[in-house]
Amino acid sequence: MAIISSKKQPPEPNGEPKQQQKSVKVPPAENILQSEAALNEQGKPEESIRPQRFADYIGQKDLKDVLDIAIKAAKSREEVLDHLLLYGPPGLGKTTMAMILASEMGVSCKITSAPALERPRDIVGLLVNLKPGDVLFIDEIHRLSRMTEEILYPAMEDYRLDITVGKGSSARIRSIPLSKFTLVGATTRVGALTSPLRDRFGLIQKLRFYEIEELTKIVLRTAELLQTPVNPDGATEIAKRSRGTPRIANRLLKRVRDYAEVKSFTEITAIVAAEALQLFQVDPCGLDWTDRKMLSVIIENFNGGPVGLETIAATTGEDTQTIEEVYEPYLMQIGYLSRTPRGRIATKAAYQHMGFKPPNEQLSLL
Ligand SMILES: Nc1ncnc2c1ncn2[C@@H]1O[C@H](COP(=O)(O)OP(=O)(O)OP(=O)(O)O)[C@@H](O)[C@H]1O
Ligand SMILES: [Mg+2]
Repeated sequence: MAIISSKKQPPEPNGEPKQQQKSVKVPPAENILQSEAALNEQGKPEESIRPQRFADYIGQKDLKDVLDIAIKAAKSREEVLDHLLLYGPPGLGKTTMAMILASEMGVSCKITSAPALERPRDIVGLLVNLKPGDVLFIDEIHRLSRMTEEILYPAMEDYRLDITVGKGSSARIRSIPLSKFTLVGATTRVGALTSPLRDRFGLIQKLRFYEIEELTKIVLRTAELLQTPVNPDGATEIAKRSRGTPRIANRLLKRVRDYAEVKSFTEITAIVAAEALQLFQVDPCGLDWTDRKMLSVIIENFNGGPVGLETIAATTGEDTQTIEEVYEPYLMQIGYLSRTPRGRIATKAAYQHMGFKPPNEQLSLL
């Protein structure tokens, strides 16, 4: 797993089709340092640094404002919260927000993921055991099977389970009432949701990439929880290289902490952070080996593009889904890549970052 990947580890259950997996392959130089064991050996796994309350959830102001109103309104009417769909790239805080919502509403949160709900009985078991007001969180909701999705429709709309009893001509539908609950769905690919499912969510919210100041606060908060001395400049240096993503910020902080400990630095300063992250091949913009490979392939081999997704995937050794969901969103966000119907194009800023002359400047030199 690359240090830059914002996916949790391990990202997927076994037995998933290859193209469905979002795990990020390890660029050669980072191999030893990225293993799951290495991360967990650091002591505190992701759960212990996950914010528990609204107040600890940094950034995403628009999302927080919307949810704050929804929570207050639901509480004052003594109703359950409307079903909520959260979407955005990995590691931005979807699961965290679902858990915070449950704790703010004073209910429990049952967490599952679409690939774990393969058989109808998996979802039925979960639904019948929900208590009034509970939050049911389904991660990767775009991957629900057709049958599970159909069970969810009446459950979401009327808090009712329709079960077919018997077979053939004697088959009947029995309806079982369910407790009123809130479904929180999370997805990195909102476009892959079927419209009947999407339409049943009362709130659909996008999570955006975080600003440097917000990530700096997240790094400082995590450093305090990990009891790692870091000065504000050190935190900012890590924040700048975190691709707008809290999970990556936390992961980079742990790697920098290793470096500082081994080199006997008492505090993480900007210089220490920059040195450490250079060692892990994370550049000052947060680009890693795969990002740079993508850009250099487009620039050097294809004259800046357009280049098809499949070609990019083949030349970087990543699967197309990882390129689309993990790498491209950030490269587009910082203006290094643009997507066109004919393929991906490297922008002028990408040329400059990679140390190449942009195409029209090359022309003007001729
Ligand atoms: N707003 C935030 N403030 C502080 N820390 C955050 C915030 N959002 C996320 N984090 C940190 O980032 C980590 C990853 O967040 P989370 O698991 O919620 O991401 P996600 O969007 O569910 O990702 P995925 O799509 O991979 O499931 C959390 O463990 C938490 O520590
Ligand atoms: Mg999640």
